[in-house]
Amino acid sequence: MAKDEIQQWINSTWDKIERKMSVQCDRIGERIPYVPEDGVYREDMGESDIFWWTNGFWPGMLWHMYQATKEDKYKAAAEGVERRLDAAFDGFNGLHHDVGFMWLHSAVANYRLTGSERSKTRGMHAANLLAGRYNPRGKFIRAWNEDCTGWIIIDSMMNIPLLYWASEETNDPRFSYIAMDHADTVLRQAVREDGSCNHIAILDPENGELIEAPGGQGFASGSSWSRGQSWALYGFALSYRYTKDERYLHAAKLIAHYFMANVSTTGFVPLVDFRSPKEPVKWDTTAGVCAACGLLELADALPEYEQELYRNAAINILRATDERFCNWNVTEDSIVNGGTAAYHGQRHAEVPIIYGDYFFIEALLRLNNKHVLLW
Ligand code: GLY
Repeated sequence: MAKDEIQQWINSTWDKIERKMSVQCDRIGERIPYVPEDGVYREDMGESDIFWWTNGFWPGMLWHMYQATKEDKYKAAAEGVERRLDAAFDGFNGLHHDVGFMWLHSAVANYRLTGSERSKTRGMHAANLLAGRYNPRGKFIRAWNEDCTGWIIIDSMMNIPLLYWASEETNDPRFSYIAMDHADTVLRQAVREDGSCNHIAILDPENGELIEAPGGQGFASGSSWSRGQSWALYGFALSYRYTKDERYLHAAKLIAHYFMANVSTTGFVPLVDFRSPKEPVKWDTTAGVCAACGLLELADALPEYEQELYRNAAINILRATDERFCNWNVTEDSIVNGGTAAYHGQRHAEVPIIYGDYFFIEALLRLNNKHVLLW
């Protein structure tokens, strides 16, 4: 496709995002959306589950809109959500491995864009909670609570940027050491030689040796949950950004090539699992839009002559998602349809999910060169 045609699509899609996000910001404000019912965000996660791992994506979308448009209403709503999230700090047992997802896009985003010291404190508090989950013998950050002592999950690669940020802010390498130890363990135990990944790896907490690799949110053990692939792709690209360790760049490329090869066989929209039976067909647009951001991050890390492959793949995914799944009707909530939480189970299958919208907006900002890093 010709360059000016692509630019036209980027411009018109951004205009649609601006129109829809402006109306949604007025309608939703400080409430915390997750999945709409019949086109309306009825549930406020701030009321029903303040600990829910996706609670940072709405403020992340608002901060992206604020920095792109400078409209104060986005900042006000994002700050309101950030204050509400303080209630999660009061409930230690409810907190988990996903504090990066929750506070990178709320408090840390606020600090990065406005310099707010109160927000920096919240971000550091979250970073310390994440660092506190580190197992120094197994050299990993454990997932979940209770009896999951040796569990790691691929999603964690998107949480550890909180630790890189904390090291940069404090000039204290401890946080980065933990992040890198964890990334090394994930690379060894959850990324396969062909670039596919396990969602979960259960390790011996005494020494980090692999015991078992269940399928988690994918089809089965040994399969390839596509959102897990995108967490890994983008996560390793981000670890490379912060550390400049070539092993992470190599991992991000390997996973990217695997993702691109698979998604190109289904019209650039990913199946929920790349290694699942042909029927029933189950889509997950959220995996595609997250991978698109990872591919664009990867392109930015590479010399110009290597960038096109990744950038074109990202554009193919985003355009296919737009054509087949985007809802630009401003009277309805949410943008990207076709998101699926997990391969098994009917709940939240092929529906709009808040992080699908987050990554779609981030990707368009990246293509527009209006992007700021919130990871
Ligand atoms: N982090 C959980 C998920 O991707 O669904």
